[in-house]
Amino acid sequence: MTLAVAGCSFDGPMSTLSGRSDYSRSILHVYSIITWSAVVIALIVFGAELYILLGRRARRTAGGLPPQTRGHTLLEISWTIAPALVLLIIAVPTIQVIFRTQAVSRPRDALEIVVRGYQWWWEYRYPSLGVITANEVHLPAGRQVVFVLEGPDVIHSFWIPLLGGKRDVVPGRVNHILLTADTPGEYWGQCAEFCGASHANMGMRVWVHAPAEFDAWVAAQRAPAVEPTGAAAEGKTIFAASACVGCHTIRGVSAGVLGPDLTHFGSRTTVAAGMWPNTPENVAAWVKNPIALKPGVKMPNLGLTDDQARAIAAYLTALK
Ligand code: CUA
Repeated sequence: MTLAVAGCSFDGPMSTLSGRSDYSRSILHVYSIITWSAVVIALIVFGAELYILLGRRARRTAGGLPPQTRGHTLLEISWTIAPALVLLIIAVPTIQVIFRTQAVSRPRDALEIVVRGYQWWWEYRYPSLGVITANEVHLPAGRQVVFVLEGPDVIHSFWIPLLGGKRDVVPGRVNHILLTADTPGEYWGQCAEFCGASHANMGMRVWVHAPAEFDAWVAAQRAPAVEPTGAAAEGKTIFAASACVGCHTIRGVSAGVLGPDLTHFGSRTTVAAGMWPNTPENVAAWVKNPIALKPGVKMPNLGLTDDQARAIAAYLTALK
């Protein structure tokens, strides 16, 4: 049954059973050491058990208890040393992987991405590229990336099963993840440390691109926000005149820092940290009454009318 259940998600979007980066492959290597050690130990234990159950049955004394052993120094020492050895065999490669991916000495040509976990969304900054985005992080395939995990908020945990992690995002300290993603595609991630009411709604999408595609994405993100037309232009006016500007940045329009940067919101595939597809309908419902859709969310209900919500949604989704 275990094999069947594992098979169901062997290559799913959040599988831990296949690796798409050097880091996740290292983790799988540690898993395989543990799994095969467990198999060997299980075979030894089951073999010994079978031997005792079947082979030694004849030697039971007639009617009474089998011969009793009280204190056996050799046995005591053996079953203390054996588990210690097993732990050592697991610990050495585990610690090696942790240190190697911790980026204590950061490679000079690694792409730095500063990750900040907030209740309940992710911010990504690319200091060397001048890009700021949220919830969906883009990586170049084949290039080393160092995630700098900063905790301005409660403890979160950064986890992209197919690429590696988990590693905590802790207030007051900086953690690192060093990895090289190798296969272009879409990956899913999830906050893996309980961080409040919407912990389960703190997802992320990860896009790994071929280098040229990645450069195109960077260029698009660095471009100024598009100037909207039609209903979207009306949405911009409403956005600029409402409390939205206190929390969100749209370059050239507002400079809030409490919520995600929305300059290129329309280029993202999901809304509210991976909760729904980024469609005008979903965005309108979201800005109209966030609290009803995401428990505990800090974005308040601004009392927008349906028309206002639709106009803002048209504006935001046009910000490609
Ligand atoms: Cu953030 Cu759980």
